[in-house]
Amino acid sequence: MPACVVMSDNTDLLVNYFTMSYLSGKNILLGITGSIAAYKSAELVRHLREAGASVRVVMTAGAAEFITPLTLQALSGHPVSSDLLDPAAEAAMGHIELARWADAVLVAPATANFIARRVHGRGDDLLTAVCLACEAPQAVAPAMNQSMWEDPATTHNVATLQERGIRVIGPAVGSQACGDSGPGRLLEPEVLVRHLENLFTTGILAGCRVLVTAGPTREPLDPVRYLGNRSSGKMGFAVAAAAVEAGAEVTLIAGPVALSTPQRVKRIDVVTAREMQVAVLDGVKGTDIFIAAAAVADYRPRDVSGCKLKKSAGKLTLELERNPDILAMVAGREKAPFTVGFAAETESVELNAQQKLQAKSIDMIAANQVGENLGFEADDNALQVFWDGGSVQLERARKTRLARQLVELVAERYHHKHDNDTVIKLHAKDPA
Ligand code: C5P
Repeated sequence: MPACVVMSDNTDLLVNYFTMSYLSGKNILLGITGSIAAYKSAELVRHLREAGASVRVVMTAGAAEFITPLTLQALSGHPVSSDLLDPAAEAAMGHIELARWADAVLVAPATANFIARRVHGRGDDLLTAVCLACEAPQAVAPAMNQSMWEDPATTHNVATLQERGIRVIGPAVGSQACGDSGPGRLLEPEVLVRHLENLFTTGILAGCRVLVTAGPTREPLDPVRYLGNRSSGKMGFAVAAAAVEAGAEVTLIAGPVALSTPQRVKRIDVVTAREMQVAVLDGVKGTDIFIAAAAVADYRPRDVSGCKLKKSAGKLTLELERNPDILAMVAGREKAPFTVGFAAETESVELNAQQKLQAKSIDMIAANQVGENLGFEADDNALQVFWDGGSVQLERARKTRLARQLVELVAERYHHKHDNDTVIKLHAKDPA
């Protein structure tokens, strides 16, 4: 194996890639409102940090009557915010910055009053203002007296939040601080953490192994020069992250790029097309889905000079030879995974994509026009996705968003194919 293919035979390390919490590396904004259950928030912050999340706390005035900001500051490692109109706090990280910083918002405990204010879109304190401004997934964990929980106004408000896509976690049933017994207890911190993790995984690829290639390859001419291309790897890395969110075990084989590895992804770095081929063929066994987002060089210099090529008068002619087509090779295997290719085109996008779908015998192809701040190096892209008998246009969007849409499509087509294969096998066994 070439020296620059970084592989690990430490299986413990590999297990860690995939068992890491979905909260690892995530920014969690914890909102605390005025309930006796606020004492549990201290433990909740500790559990969130143990799961690898960064936590910032925003408290309402009522919450500060039950638990001190100092406790939460010490546990979260960040100053606690509570005042919408505090110039010093707004200068440090104001409500808009907090809203942008958060990968998810959890309000725990959430009182009946907070839930009602949220339903009405109030933004009259820092917590409601941050929630209004935040586009990240949000959840509330209610805590209140059982009669308040069962009041029709609360029932209606909770249903409204759910309709708007806000996750309602709990409450638990049991004895309450006021002496009553019934629904309205805040769930235990460990349980809240598990529910919060679910915000970061759709589960549509749960149990699946996904192999992704990303970035360019470099084909050396001599020790200092290479043939390469403009691929940044952003699309492939976003696809790997989206597959993790979908619940898959993801291995990412990356050409030379300046990107950090998405959480829970096992990354293998390569340089040339042939190194990528070795890594892919090694990793593809047991893979359910192969997504080839890398811009693999089609040709490499036939001769690689051991020392730097010197200028000479006149022309320099390079002789190139074909690189292996990794995607076609994987698709041609006897037990091929579900295969997805990419096609970056400057013209006739649909025609070229359809031809590649057939020629490489792959299950799906995502094609894009390169240029106009789209495609290579850009943060945005637009994709036309084709498969045998269907196609979908994914409109221009951030590559992270587009990757999620693509992974949803891949999951749908993969399960469709899988279910059909199972039916065919069952028929084959049927003696009638
Ligand atoms: O034929 P073309 O290079 O346009 O095909 C693009 C698709 O094929 C991409 O998914 C790319 O990752 C894959 N590919 C490959 N090996 C090559 C060339 C392309 O896997 N040598």
